[in-house]
Amino acid sequence: MSNTVIVGTQWGDEGKGKIVDMLAQQAGAIVRFQGGNNAGHTLVVAGEQCILHLIPSGVLHPGKKCLIGNGVVLDPEVFLEEIDGLAAKGIDVSPERMKISNKAQIIMSYHRMMDNCRESVKSDDSKIGTTGRGIGPCYEDKMNRVGIRAADLADPELLRTKIVDALQEKNVLFKNLFNVEPLDPEAVYQQILPVAERIKPFLGDVSSIIQDVNKDGGMVLFEGAQGIHLDIDHGTYPFVTSSNTVAGNAAAGAGCGPRSLNRIIGILKAYTTRVGSGPFATELFDNVGETLQKNGHEFGATTGRRRRCGWLDMVIIRETARLCDLTEFALTKLDVLSGLDEIKICVAYKYRGEEVAYPPQEQNGMAHVEPIYESMPGWTEDITTARSYEDLPQAAQNYIARIEELSEVKVAIVSVGPDRAETIVR
Ligand code: GDP
Ligand code: IMO
Ligand code: MG
Repeated sequence: MSNTVIVGTQWGDEGKGKIVDMLAQQAGAIVRFQGGNNAGHTLVVAGEQCILHLIPSGVLHPGKKCLIGNGVVLDPEVFLEEIDGLAAKGIDVSPERMKISNKAQIIMSYHRMMDNCRESVKSDDSKIGTTGRGIGPCYEDKMNRVGIRAADLADPELLRTKIVDALQEKNVLFKNLFNVEPLDPEAVYQQILPVAERIKPFLGDVSSIIQDVNKDGGMVLFEGAQGIHLDIDHGTYPFVTSSNTVAGNAAAGAGCGPRSLNRIIGILKAYTTRVGSGPFATELFDNVGETLQKNGHEFGATTGRRRRCGWLDMVIIRETARLCDLTEFALTKLDVLSGLDEIKICVAYKYRGEEVAYPPQEQNGMAHVEPIYESMPGWTEDITTARSYEDLPQAAQNYIARIEELSEVKVAIVSVGPDRAETIVR
């Protein structure tokens, strides 16, 4: 069976969690390969909502292995809170099915503190609007080769040395640059010890588990977090997250080769949203933007912030298709567009007097593009009960067909509501 990668095609919150939960039924294992608890993935099953930040969105399916790959930055306290919450609902979160790669990086209290200090001294127009979860500073330490890896939680002496070394440098910044109280390395160490003890049974070799699932004929589902335009290299830098969100990183971040990635599904919200700062060409500041925000309940699942809303931008989607080699789309939140007289699609940008089909590469380029729109008639019908493509109004079918034409990628799944059941598979 084909291994499947799920990525967000826009700026996150496209509905990855819902689609991963739906496809997990067919999988042997579900693996997170980048990001951390900056993610918020929402699943709704039979009306009951479950928001996950770190645990793979396959956890509601008994027996499926839930893996956290080496590419993830893991806040161990958040992991434990999340499994405690799931266990209280009767969900199996035993170490037999949940594994954390020994090589995953650990988010420490000083990473969260650094994240918030860095943001607090930035001017309003240079703030990234991070989630404050310590993601960037943890990846910095990884790249600087001083990070704490999950396996270190089982090695108290190494752990202590790494904390002492890390704080030697960071405390200088805390005290002298940010004017906050420096941290006592011994206190940080004592605080993490009981947490480390609880994490130990979950440590494992995620790479070899993936290999075993495939050898047994099982499918592995790779669950992306964030979106392609938040990618550290390919996104709207510097208003991005600190990991590679592109599909290719599923291999590196989970511990397998690129030939293991067969189907690549891009999750495509029927309009665009963004949380935090950064350019957003099709952002709406009028009643339509408010309608999308309200009808789509567009509030961040992690920070509760209002999501900025706008029309679908096929320029960024086209680039996503190219960067990720998408085999198909899952189109989500189509129901939110019901009731609009007119629906606009951005088909190209005007940039420096020319029409361009892909985003500009310069740092400030995206802030200076002008969207070129096409207009399509909307539909008034409630489509949440549609279960086959033919149930959709003609105008909705036309909208889907136009997305396929503009991207040269087919729409294989259409989501018409938050619930697992509110889905059309073509
Ligand atoms: P993720 O981060 O990509 O997993 O997405 P989020 O969970 O942060 O945000 C997507 C939101 O839209 C969640 O509240 C979902 O329950 C909801 N959702 C997903 N698909 C649909 C859909 O087709 N229609 C509607 N109305 N809501 C959806
Ligand atoms: P999911 O997986 C939407 C955004 C933040 C900020 C920028 C950098 O739910 O789609 P960070 O804390 O990562 O350093 O913040 O990235 N961001 C997200 N936006 N959905 C997410 O995840 C996000 N994760 C990070 O708002 O603009
Ligand atoms: Mg989200």
